[in-house]
Amino acid sequence: MKHPAAIRRFLGLIFHARIMRPDDANIAGNVHGGTILKMIEEAGAIISTRHCNSQSGDKCVTALARVERTDFLSPMSIGEVGHVSAEITYTSKRSVEVQVDVMAENILTGAKRLTNRATLWYVPLSLNNVDKVIEVPPIQYGKKEQEEEGRKRYENQKLERLETRHRNGEIIRPVINPEPYTVGYSQSSLIHLVGPSDCTLHGYVHGGVTMKLMDEVAGIVAARHCKTNIVTASVDAINFHRKIRKGCLVTVSGRMTFTSNKSMEIEVFVDADTVIGDNPELYRAVSAFFTYVSLSKDAKPLPVPQLVLETEEEKKRFEEGKGRYLQTKAKRQMQAHSLTQQ
Ligand code: COA
Repeated sequence: MKHPAAIRRFLGLIFHARIMRPDDANIAGNVHGGTILKMIEEAGAIISTRHCNSQSGDKCVTALARVERTDFLSPMSIGEVGHVSAEITYTSKRSVEVQVDVMAENILTGAKRLTNRATLWYVPLSLNNVDKVIEVPPIQYGKKEQEEEGRKRYENQKLERLETRHRNGEIIRPVINPEPYTVGYSQSSLIHLVGPSDCTLHGYVHGGVTMKLMDEVAGIVAARHCKTNIVTASVDAINFHRKIRKGCLVTVSGRMTFTSNKSMEIEVFVDADTVIGDNPELYRAVSAFFTYVSLSKDAKPLPVPQLVLETEEEKKRFEEGKGRYLQTKAKRQMQAHSLTQQ
């Protein structure tokens, strides 16, 4: 089949520019990490849905299937202009890779800086049948290497997401009278009823809405633990294995898994409960790790209180968190080193 409209190299798009307002802010006056994740996801959903409808045949809406590890490079402040741009960087048979950049602009000086660069994977679902994945029109690449590199990223994420499936069983139980700095002391949950404004044309939750709720809970856990202003530093890769329908109750729970000298890792679970209907179902829709940093009044990273571990499970999770921390720290150092060599 030919897809004439799709035979363009990249579908570049400046999606959005808007002044960041006080209701986008955390208590430190910076834009919430969750708000930025939601803006990123909206841009990705628009460009991927447009692309997948550029062929004749079944109309579709894309669903967010995965977000690669995302770093928050620089805080965005209230009063700055947030610019979001997105482009399609790879298409497999039934998925689309989108890269989204977020820049913050000081509107008084015109100075701009990159605050986030995220990679997201979307899957087109037929508008007539949400369980039917349809084929993606291929994009044309400027160079053979771009396609090769895209294929490598696609193969890598396919391998990686198989590993995350079996992490999804545990639930967070309430703890009575927890001691300060223990896992039970800061663990937190929120419950949200999925309404129409949270949903796509299919009536299922937007990935960005879910990520915003996840960031909110992770931020509460971090603030409860260190009792200071906190910011999102990064989010590990997230896989969205299950959809969440309008009318579901979602419980978003977070617990601290690891503390380094100046950072905290928080594991967040999203559980959906279908509540209404004849066959109620409770299932784990998503889980992810967020990293937070504690900030002083002049926005400098502070040492964080160390997590007090009480059970063997907590010690095991702490060691796993330490492994992830050391791995990403080594990667960051390698990237910084290669930048200084250029
Ligand atoms: N990350 C990236 N791509 C993924 C993926 C993931 N986590 N899961 C599936 N895919 C891709 C597959 O690679 C495949 O593309 P390919 O054939 O080109 O390789 C395509 O999706 C279809 O895969 P398949 O195995 O047939 O589909 P599935 O039954 O796993 O369904 C989803 C995939 C995304 C539709 C399904 O997992 C889902 O509905 N997830 C929830 C989506 C959602 O609601 N997002 C917002 C949540 S709040």
